[in-house]
Amino acid sequence: MQTLQVALAERSYPIHIGSGLLDRPDLLAPHFAQKKALVVSNETVAPLYLARLQASLAAAGVESFAAILPDGERYKTWETLNLIFDALLGAHCERGTTLVALGGGVVGDMGGFAAACYQRGMPFIQVPTTLLSQVDSSVGGKTAINHPLGKNMIGAFYQPRLVLADIDTLATLPDRELRAGLAEVIKYGLIRDAAFLAWLEQNIEGLLARDPDLLAEAVQRSCANKAEVVAADERETGERALLNLGHTFGHAIEAGLGYGEWLHGEAVAAGTMMAAELSRLLGWLTDADVERTESLFRRAGLPVRGPQLGEARYIELMRHDKKVAEGRLRLVLLRRLGEAVLTADADEAAIAEAIRRCC
Ligand code: NAD
Ligand code: GLY
Repeated sequence: MQTLQVALAERSYPIHIGSGLLDRPDLLAPHFAQKKALVVSNETVAPLYLARLQASLAAAGVESFAAILPDGERYKTWETLNLIFDALLGAHCERGTTLVALGGGVVGDMGGFAAACYQRGMPFIQVPTTLLSQVDSSVGGKTAINHPLGKNMIGAFYQPRLVLADIDTLATLPDRELRAGLAEVIKYGLIRDAAFLAWLEQNIEGLLARDPDLLAEAVQRSCANKAEVVAADERETGERALLNLGHTFGHAIEAGLGYGEWLHGEAVAAGTMMAAELSRLLGWLTDADVERTESLFRRAGLPVRGPQLGEARYIELMRHDKKVAEGRLRLVLLRRLGEAVLTADADEAAIAEAIRRCC
């Protein structure tokens, strides 16, 4: 097992990464003030892992209840959030009860938002079970639900007390979901870690074959990057925005097609190609850089072209992005491979041209 720390003063917390961690009550026990928990999961993940997690909680002396949500991005809504509040109230949970999110990014984002709101804030633990949630969404405290007009528009910054990433859970993940998770892994290489990018180019086939050592290293190096960025800029006043490479375009794909049609990681991959193309139009990336980026996404089995929504529709949807400032679109682009910038330099004609070339 490897342990990283997210350094946020009194709200610092560990990320444990390794094999067999669901069966480690010793890792859970120190994080419960009150010996009671609500585990939030979904109808796919619960049959696979809920019993084991609840057995570990029991062994740690924690009584637990469960709330099982419907599965899917299209359920990341107010209605589903209310099911969590119903369960919390139904089980007489108090402010000191802990909410444990067991699942992918959808369960984690909704569980975290519920924890931030319930009685104005209850302790929260992330047990991520997808590659995407282990490398990104479980770390850093962004929690949210979607709005039909924009992705993750309603939410809160709310840090967990612990992230427990059991690599073994990735064994049951569908191939398409594994590939989607790789999009966020590749992101770290592109925005700030050229050595990791080169490592991914050497090991992408091994990761797709689920080599456990490679997966553990990819999760660890991704989380190390994320923990550094979050510690430096928890509430995204600067550097943290760089973690959104490809996301402004990608969120437009997700909202434009209807949530769940494309997976988040798939939309991020195609959106990152649009950002790379725009970076080339600005003279920052070379043809070889863009080809290198495209080749890695292709080898990871990810889409490198977006759906034909029309450039105007893309831009209309992108205007709901959280990085829009005083009505102006700001985008994360690449100065070079391994270095990202947040910029308002690209005009609308260039943005439209990049979208046109990548659809
Ligand atoms: P997801 O939560 O929908 O999980 C993907 C699918 O895999 C679901 O059907 C789920 O039930 C299933 N699943 C989960 N674990 C499994 C396992 N071990 N075995 C078999 N099936 C399993 O999707 P995701 O990719 O994990 O997360 C995407 C969400 O995360 C999006 O809503 C996105 O906006 C959000 N996100 C948030 C942040 C953040 O910082 N908070 C960062 C990135 C993404
Ligand atoms: N996933 C982007 C962030 O956490 O800031």
